[in-house]
Amino acid sequence: MTDLDDPARFGGADPSGFLESVERLPGQVREAWRLGREAFLPPAGKVGAVLVCGMGGSGIAGDVCRAILAPTSPAPILTLKSYDLPAWVGRDTLVFAVSYSGTTEETLAAFDAAAARGARLVAVTTGGALLTRAQAGGHPSIVIPGGLQPRAALAYLALPVLVACARLGLGPRLAGEVAETLQVLEARVARCERGVPAAKNPAKTLALRLRGLPVVVAGGDGLGSVAAYRWKCQLNEVAKVPAFSSAFPELGHNEVVGWEDPGGVTGDFALVVLRHAGEPPRLAGQIEAALGIVGPAFAVAEQVSAKGGSPLARLFDLVSLGDFTTTYLALATGVDPTPVATIDRLKRAT
Ligand code: F6R
Repeated sequence: MTDLDDPARFGGADPSGFLESVERLPGQVREAWRLGREAFLPPAGKVGAVLVCGMGGSGIAGDVCRAILAPTSPAPILTLKSYDLPAWVGRDTLVFAVSYSGTTEETLAAFDAAAARGARLVAVTTGGALLTRAQAGGHPSIVIPGGLQPRAALAYLALPVLVACARLGLGPRLAGEVAETLQVLEARVARCERGVPAAKNPAKTLALRLRGLPVVVAGGDGLGSVAAYRWKCQLNEVAKVPAFSSAFPELGHNEVVGWEDPGGVTGDFALVVLRHAGEPPRLAGQIEAALGIVGPAFAVAEQVSAKGGSPLARLFDLVSLGDFTTTYLALATGVDPTPVATIDRLKRAT
């Protein structure tokens, strides 16, 4: 266990410097934006649909792109987190194969299948077999910096895909949104970095409240649900705790009944609800009503709100707060935030 107000001891608890990667997210956004703008892309032309393939910390790049682009994109934006391509993928599908390591078998299988169908392919990776196969097949690749855990490289993985889609006419140009995202993230880092004591640091405060509890993270449809899924994955992989995510309004039609829980199990869970100012009023009203009804059943029920005016800034602000919170939760419970031994074992076993 590490005292969160004693950052001099974080080095021993976090030997690979995961917290540093969290504090450096603004710089990563800046660099990823440049990589996306400079990338060589497949020739422009009609895109029938976009499919972003990837797993885990790389796969969430597709969720981020869907949340940001789907409200305005003329083509559907879909994600694939498995081996097999849907039957509709063909020559007019723009397929991004995203794998930080470039060695993930599901993503490689999807890449091979998309190449066999003649899809327009772009690889986003640090190297590995994915880069080798992209180069051998003459497909564009966006090579991002290595040396991080995939889940600590979200901006490198997601922004080049977003920028590539924008350059191919599937989304807004993003320059203003990226500038705002940088401002919001720098302010988030200033509030949550290691030197800010727990009494004034929202991420440390929340981490201390979540200690010892499995967590349900909920957000509103679209970017709120993507942020909730990212928090769930970071709770799992960084803090090594059981966590689950859900999305309003759908959860208001089933899960809320489980939260009533006359048996009392809900009282052993924490609930974190991720909010943002872009929620449509009907959705916001439903979230508040649900919290009033079932919030008291949880051991801890917290709401956190994104700063920022654009969807990109709001989403990255929620991501950053979640990354800080889960890293401090790991430190507060004596867990090294970096290794994911069970994922490594599973990959070796398959
Ligand atoms: C590890 C992590 C994992 C990996 C996943 C896929 O930090 O986040 O979820 O992202 O196992 O591996 P890559 O990203 O290399 O394709």
